[in-house]
Amino acid sequence: MSKKLEFPKGFLWGSATASYQVEGGIEQCDWAEGARAGKVPVCGAACDHYNRYEADFDIAQSLGHTIHRFSVEWARIEPEEGVFNEEALEHYRQVLRALHARGMTPSITLWHFTLPLWLSGRGGWGHKDTPAVFARYCAKVVEALGDLCDNYGTINEPMVVAGIGYLRGAWPPFYKNAWVRYYRALLNMTRGHNQAYHAIKKMRVDAQVGIVKHTIAYTSNGTIINRIRAWAANVMWTRLFMYRVYRHCDWIGLNYYHRTMFGDTRDLPKTDFWWNVDQEGIYEALHILARYKRPIYITETGCADATDRLRADYIRDTVRWTHKAIEEGVDVRAFCYWSLLDNYEWAEGFEKRFGLIEVNFETQERTPRPSAYVYKEICEQNGLAID
Ligand code: FCB
Repeated sequence: MSKKLEFPKGFLWGSATASYQVEGGIEQCDWAEGARAGKVPVCGAACDHYNRYEADFDIAQSLGHTIHRFSVEWARIEPEEGVFNEEALEHYRQVLRALHARGMTPSITLWHFTLPLWLSGRGGWGHKDTPAVFARYCAKVVEALGDLCDNYGTINEPMVVAGIGYLRGAWPPFYKNAWVRYYRALLNMTRGHNQAYHAIKKMRVDAQVGIVKHTIAYTSNGTIINRIRAWAANVMWTRLFMYRVYRHCDWIGLNYYHRTMFGDTRDLPKTDFWWNVDQEGIYEALHILARYKRPIYITETGCADATDRLRADYIRDTVRWTHKAIEEGVDVRAFCYWSLLDNYEWAEGFEKRFGLIEVNFETQERTPRPSAYVYKEICEQNGLAID
């Protein structure tokens, strides 16, 4: 007889995107400038989601989604310092209305990796005024959109964007091993988040504000030395950052892609990004974040899998491990698969395909992958049937 892993009533199921990765036509930001300089791939029209969002949300609705996480583009909204573009804000109002009309709860990410040129030009997150400038921008967005959206994530994956931008040099601002700048940027992001939290609350006291933390689950094979390594890695990657922001969080977003198990010798399946498929790690990551005693939204988890050979099992496993964490008392409220659509995967360009929906970038044709229907059943059943 088959059994069902039932999720709490009101649990939200859906997917996530980010403005630069899907919208197309964003030229006044640091990533577009990086592309013009030949340092990262050109994004161009991306999925043309800026114009096609209604049709895309029709598909999401038909796939049973009840939440959609997306980001608003700072460079569109504040094209010059202190000048806010009402047309761009009105566009995002339409996006929110389109989600509500299809029964999907919106979650807005206020900053997902791309900075307006006027800000990146003077040092981006390294500049001392950026936390305050960010808070002012966030307050403006919530003032304009607040009646249509309750849920806001301030910064997406601060450790990732700072690490790749200031240490590895592969993303804007393209610094290598610039440790001082790296720490300054990270510190400013924690300040930016905390100031934005208060600025948003002033605008709308009942808005729910969180941070989106890429949480690598560092675990060990149990030997003392590897346990110490895992503990230290968790402190460095997650705890030090969270310690500075969690008091200013109504919820925490978990982006889960990796587990690093020290002393692990297993030969695990790999996604097209060469990442191990090891979904027990999401259970560990949920427990790592549960310590902050805030509701957790799974804001991203997904795999690059152009041929859709892994995705259905990946989703089922992730759901199973999430359910186990919930059973043990972790307060998880939502599950957003990354991503709704194939999209611009940063320095990898368009090659890595994370979408539930396949996109033909020549014709902009959309085709849901078979795994999207496996996920649909989970969304509609609010759980997973197991044997
Ligand atoms: C996350 C990013 C997201 C996407 C996925 C694959 O780190 O937040 O934009 O690129 O990885």
